[in-house]
Amino acid sequence: MTQASPSITLQINGQPCTVAADATLLQAIRSAGLQVPTLCHLDGLTPVGACRLCLVDLEGHPKLEPACVTTAAEGMVVHTHTPELESYRRMAVELFFAEGNHVCAFCVANGACELQDVAVEVGMDHSRFPYQYPKRHVDASHALFGLDHHRCILCTRCVRMCDEIEGAHVWDVGYRGSACSIIAGLDQPWGEVEACTSCGKCVDACPTGALFRKQDATAEKQPHPERAQQLAEARTDRRWHNQ
Ligand code: SF4
Ligand code: SF4
Ligand code: FES
Repeated sequence: MTQASPSITLQINGQPCTVAADATLLQAIRSAGLQVPTLCHLDGLTPVGACRLCLVDLEGHPKLEPACVTTAAEGMVVHTHTPELESYRRMAVELFFAEGNHVCAFCVANGACELQDVAVEVGMDHSRFPYQYPKRHVDASHALFGLDHHRCILCTRCVRMCDEIEGAHVWDVGYRGSACSIIAGLDQPWGEVEACTSCGKCVDACPTGALFRKQDATAEKQPHPERAQQLAEARTDRRWHNQ
């Protein structure tokens, strides 16, 4: 007889919700049919809690916690959309736009960009913070793909996709503070990194127009973020074993 896996019950926005004992709050929120915005999270990759958009309020807890990296616990009372949370989320999205150079009208990802989607979701129509207009570069050294650092939000999905799913570990995060950026290999031009298999998985995982296929023009990027979970599940299920 198989033993039922242990479960816990918590309350989310006043609604009782029962999930597996090792579920994250994000999984619990989604299983209750609710949503919080996410950008760094991608099903199939290890969560890192980088973007802070999924912050939730836990009653009796002194600080807000990111739902994607917090384990649900018995009796938790969770709020996902208080005025304070909505204000923080909007501010976080405004900062993403102010820190980079996001000119959607000329972007490969226009219309298929998760940053755009999140801006709409949190009700952002302008940034209250001064635009930084950073001088970043575009790495066009790879034969098939490009990286426009102006549109990178440092979510590290590409880093984790390449490391955990492809096993190539081409990408990393380099430098500090405002100079922090994604780097290829030993901070080389992407096209010179021999470990790159040209699989394109990092491009599929990128939520913005930062990573793109060279043949894509404005609004032509067709990302496939679902590939991370599909490939992670296929590996767990050993779907290619002995085939
Ligand atoms: S990455 Fe998204 S938000 Fe940034 S310019 Fe492109 S479409 Fe606009
Ligand atoms: S290149 Fe794309 S996937 Fe990688 S960190 Fe930047 S925004 Fe995220
Ligand atoms: S989705 Fe949870 S911190 Fe980014």
